[in-house]
Amino acid sequence: MTNVEYLRLKDMVEDNLVDFLPEVDHKSITLHDAMAYSLSAGGKRLRPVLLLATCEMFGMKAKEALPYACAIEYIHTYSLIHDDLPAMDDDDLRRGKPTNHKVFGEAMAILAGDGLLHSAFEVMTKDMLMYFDNPEKLQHRAHACYEIAKGCGVRGMVGGQVADIESENKQCSREMLDYIHLNKTAELISAAILGGAALAGASLEERQTLGNYAEALGLAFQIVDDYLDVCGDEAQMGKHTGSDARMNKSTYPALYGIEKTVERANELLDRAEALMAPYYDEAEVFNAVTEELRSQLK
Ligand code: IPE
Ligand code: IPE
Ligand code: MG
Ligand code: MG
Ligand code: MG
Repeated sequence: MTNVEYLRLKDMVEDNLVDFLPEVDHKSITLHDAMAYSLSAGGKRLRPVLLLATCEMFGMKAKEALPYACAIEYIHTYSLIHDDLPAMDDDDLRRGKPTNHKVFGEAMAILAGDGLLHSAFEVMTKDMLMYFDNPEKLQHRAHACYEIAKGCGVRGMVGGQVADIESENKQCSREMLDYIHLNKTAELISAAILGGAALAGASLEERQTLGNYAEALGLAFQIVDDYLDVCGDEAQMGKHTGSDARMNKSTYPALYGIEKTVERANELLDRAEALMAPYYDEAEVFNAVTEELRSQLK
């Protein structure tokens, strides 16, 4: 990604990510090291950047939204640590480095994931405590926290991961495949965008448009991830290809073949771009994201 606006928001996130973590007791320093290891390993920071870009789109300063941006990256990073565990996808490379459990052991990797998840809610609710004298801002923050909780929860990412695991070694239906992708991935991407919209006090109508946008983008994102697992470049992705085939996962390439996978991803990216069109100049970061995804399908 080379878009300057994207990189500006990404830098803001990276400058604060580890510092925003709640302090740990020195007796639990391994926990802090394990959490910081995966957070600092890199990553595109897509979800926090989308959250901040949405805030800015509705006139809120990105700096004010940083606790929520960091929180969603904590949640995403936790989901990756757990996703890589031997009991799940059993991967040993993530963000260009050995996976968390390869370095810290399985027990600590599980706890680092737990620690990141709980830190997310600690950081968000700590921010809310500062707004008790401003009911409107407090309401926006509570709303954002709800969107994020819902996106990572049992009707969101965790629910999708359950369906993903239960669909291994099976020919699942097209409907089920979309259910997996929409929940395990699109819900957290939606939470970033709708969380940002809630923080900035966007109207119901605007949030509905953004919700449709986020669903198309989120589904496209996971379809591109499936595509790259077959056709991508390991060095660029910082993770191994072929993981889905090895685990006999239900994916777009497995169910539809590569050509239809690319077609469907492009259709969804077109839909996302069309939904963002009314926002013109405000949509630079969003358009950079869809362009980047499109460029990976070559
Ligand atoms: C990987 O997400 C997991 C999926 C939902 C496909 P990303 O591709 O955003 O991973 P990072 O954060 O850049 O490492
Ligand atoms: C992961 O999907 C979605 C999560 C909730 C972490 P994948 O299992 O396809 O993600 P990668 O390919 O390991 O990054
Ligand atoms: Mg997985
Ligand atoms: Mg995986
Ligand atoms: Mg994948």
